[in-house]
Amino acid sequence: MYLMKILSQITTESTEETENFAEQFAQTLRGGEVLLLQGDLGAGKTHFVKGLARGLGIEDVVTSPTFALHNSYSGRLTLNHFDFYRLDSSEEAAILGLDEIFYEKNSVAAIEWSERVSDLLPSDCVRVCIDKLGDGVRKITIER
Ligand SMILES: Nc1ncnc2c1ncn2[C@@H]1O[C@H](COP(=O)(O)OP(=O)(O)OP(=O)(O)O)[C@@H](O)[C@H]1O
Ligand SMILES: [Mg+2]
Repeated sequence: MYLMKILSQITTESTEETENFAEQFAQTLRGGEVLLLQGDLGAGKTHFVKGLARGLGIEDVVTSPTFALHNSYSGRLTLNHFDFYRLDSSEEAAILGLDEIFYEKNSVAAIEWSERVSDLLPSDCVRVCIDKLGDGVRKITIER
């Protein structure tokens, strides 16, 4: 059996609040973390990553890597942002060598739609769950 420990939880009422929360959370990152961003289409996963980038001192504009599957940004730590929504199989990700980037040193992996690559994920991941509570309102839970 495995137990998830809740590290942090918040209810946000705007994209700015979500980004600010992620920016603060980024201060706790030391490198080597694999963050699984979980939530429906339009939950706010990409906005959370924008906040992470800001918190890591990254000035580039973070855009959704839906077609590219992977974007990389350098800051205090390297931020590797993945979006596997359009991936057909985890084999495809393995062939592209994307799973190796999950474990890069001095980097943080932030993965949207990680369900598509579940067999490639390390066991010790941090989960960021974003639930839509209503118009503009999101509950964000970070657990490990
Ligand atoms: N509190 C909130 N936090 C984050 N986003 C919010 C919030 N309230 C409303 N939104 C809206 O929800 C949407 C979130 O978009 P975003 O691209 O971050 O979602 P996503 O989870 O990455 O979706 P996808 O699965 O399509 O990649 C935006 O349109 C944003 O304006
Ligand atoms: Mg997204």
